[in-house]
Amino acid sequence: MSATSTIVAIDGPAGAGKSTIAKALAKRLELDYLDTGAMYRAVTHAAIERGVPLDDAVAVGEVARGITILVTDGRTCVDGVDVSDLIRGTIVTSGVSTVAANSEVRRVMRDLQRAWGDERPGGVIEGRDIGTIVFPDATLKVYLTASPRVRAQRRVGQVGGDLEETERSIVERDHKDSSRSDSPLVTSADSVVVDTSDRSVDEVVEEIVTLVEGRHGSERA
Ligand code: DC
Repeated sequence: MSATSTIVAIDGPAGAGKSTIAKALAKRLELDYLDTGAMYRAVTHAAIERGVPLDDAVAVGEVARGITILVTDGRTCVDGVDVSDLIRGTIVTSGVSTVAANSEVRRVMRDLQRAWGDERPGGVIEGRDIGTIVFPDATLKVYLTASPRVRAQRRVGQVGGDLEETERSIVERDHKDSSRSDSPLVTSADSVVVDTSDRSVDEVVEEIVTLVEGRHGSERA
């Protein structure tokens, strides 16, 4: 990133509201938005499609290096084919934690994400390791969170399913994402923790806009 670019990192667990907030924030700040979870999902889908076992770290790393991933305007393409719907299905969702724990995959995704940031005047980037690893010098690092119960309720509201079961799987995925050795989901000392449990999207977006403006103000001071 250049010294003048505005990078807003939005990290946090599944269901904290990252996508909704990050998209609205990008619109409000007139910046591009990048969903890095979609990139890990795209690699997972490509590996499954090629019959590569997800626990074969070397082969999955090769898949990540060999494909072209394009994430724009809410759509995700792999080698020119739109896989946006497929990457949200249960097969990819249940395999993606394994792929996200693969260090070679992470290295390739990190390089792509940094290149994305370098190509534009800034962006709002959503993921798990954006403020800690990918853009450690981001203008603002936000760690969005919400209670497991609220996150499960949101998920059931979107796609249906059993609340208890959904909450259990959310807690399990959190544990996997935060205990992996490479780039675990953690807060950093300089991130702002925002709990979205009892707050509207607009409220949270306004709070973050104020924080971004504050950063720019302190840069100018
Ligand atoms: O946000 P999501 O549910 O689409 O993310 C899919 C998976 O990818 C999830 O297991 C977390 C992982 N992920 C990651 O490890 N690092 C990121 N920057 C983004 C997502």
